[in-house]
Amino acid sequence: VRIFIPRDAAALALGAENVAMAIAQEIAARGLDATIVRNGSRGMHWLEPLVEVETDGGRIAYGPVKKGDVASLFDAGFANGGEHPLCRGKTDEIPFLRQQTRLTFARCGVTDPLSLSDYRAHDGLRGLQNAIAMDPAAIVAQVTESGLRGRGGAGFPTGIKWKTVLEAAADRKYIVCNADEGDSGTFADRMIMEGDPFVLIEGMAIAGVATGATKGYVYTRSEYPHAIAVMEQAIEIARANGVLGPSVLGSKHAFDMEVRTGAGAYVCGEETALLNSLEGKRGLVRAKPPLPAHKGLFDCPTVINNVISLASVPIVMDKGAAFYRDFGVGRSRGTIPIQIAGNVKHGGLYEAAFGLSLGEIVDGIGGGTASGRPVKAVQVGGPLGAYFPRALFDTPFDYEAFAAKDGLIGHAGIVVFDDSVDMLHQARFAMEFCAVESCGKCTPCRIGSTRGVETADRIAQGIEPEKNRELLADLCNTMKYGSLCALGGFTPYPVLSAMNHFPEDFSPATVVQA
Ligand code: NAI
Ligand code: SF4
Repeated sequence: VRIFIPRDAAALALGAENVAMAIAQEIAARGLDATIVRNGSRGMHWLEPLVEVETDGGRIAYGPVKKGDVASLFDAGFANGGEHPLCRGKTDEIPFLRQQTRLTFARCGVTDPLSLSDYRAHDGLRGLQNAIAMDPAAIVAQVTESGLRGRGGAGFPTGIKWKTVLEAAADRKYIVCNADEGDSGTFADRMIMEGDPFVLIEGMAIAGVATGATKGYVYTRSEYPHAIAVMEQAIEIARANGVLGPSVLGSKHAFDMEVRTGAGAYVCGEETALLNSLEGKRGLVRAKPPLPAHKGLFDCPTVINNVISLASVPIVMDKGAAFYRDFGVGRSRGTIPIQIAGNVKHGGLYEAAFGLSLGEIVDGIGGGTASGRPVKAVQVGGPLGAYFPRALFDTPFDYEAFAAKDGLIGHAGIVVFDDSVDMLHQARFAMEFCAVESCGKCTPCRIGSTRGVETADRIAQGIEPEKNRELLADLCNTMKYGSLCALGGFTPYPVLSAMNHFPEDFSPATVVQA
């Protein structure tokens, strides 16, 4: 029998390592014929550590398991899928999982992340196999036709980015994976790297074959030590098995890759700051043009894509463009891994076709707040995303629909707040975050963010609130249109949405006239 215990950082933070040790001890003490597999997470955070047992009828889930529960689980015959208060039934039938459309995350939590044979047995490497038999332009066309857009947040068509790099004449080209997942409430990149690293390797190799790049880098954050370790081991395994190296899967294409770690600056998730950091320079934003696709890493044409964009390519190359494009709405095609976090009952990763309404995600899938109090606001798209009130819960989850409501889906992180949140405080936090993380290159962001904090403080203190509200809105306007990159340019989203949708929080009870 196989027992699955996640090695994902969220499960580890909740005690998975102790649970694994306790289970190993029970197996030994009871003389059972059982093997422990350390899998990725299924993405149901409220059930972590979620332990699964393989039975003839499928995998049975138990969670959240604590070290102290282990002996009683074995007493209840858990190694054969026995009944226990922590038993959640068949894993695949848990509604949160059953209702998803798992394309990118199909294997996450299912397979052993470091078993290449497991990866192959679950349809892995089929996309790359197809790609090496194709003309590069045909691969790029297939990715374009799939409608896949950048999952890092900007939503730029992936195929068009690849086409620019394919058509750039150069001796050297690079594939850079942006795994600097700095947004609060996001963890999709980390879950893929820890739970299914080969899908990212396969996606990057396909990008290399498609554009003529022979070297790839995964740039990730130092806060992700588990992801770094798994990625590095997976790359070595891929290399030892001919997936990476001078002849990818025996083809004429060469492609190899390595992991590089950042030093903790949020702005290094901005693609040009990331390139500087990767080159060993300070993470300062570069002006565009030139686009990285023309002049990127070491001035060579470079594809920079987010983890999820690259990890979605293998399924496109395996099942075809039409298969992928059939999911979704409008210009948002395929699926999106929604990350539900904050004050929410059922937090975790939910992959679905674009088009669910925000209300369905927060109230239905997320089950409302963990505190049981009413939902007041949800921030969508990371710390630079807008706050949405309940009145906008009918907004469908798609790039254009969110933009039309002065918001963004960004990297698809959703952070839920109950009615105890003070939106003026949240607006101040956005300005403070920008001040701390600004690379300092341009004035509206560097100076504006600090002035923004001061202005929010004056409103909170009741000093000329009307004048200071106007000033804050004006400052946001300057930052939005005068900043070089999204950090300064998008900080106004949380600030203005907080002011517009929750004006009551910007009118302090005591007003002091200066
Ligand atoms: P952008 O709109 O400037 O560019 C999008 C991408 O398309 C870039 O990679 C750019 O190089 C590329 N591109 C544009 N025109 C091209 C062409 N003709 N050929 C080839 N490539 C082309 O957006 P930017 O500044 O890269 O990102 C802003 C977004 O980042 C925001 O929408 C925000 O949601 C998101 N974001 C994500 C974070 C995260 O942690 N994932 C954090 C902060 C912001
Ligand atoms: Fe740097 Fe801020 Fe300007 Fe971006 S907006 S380039 S982070 S100073």
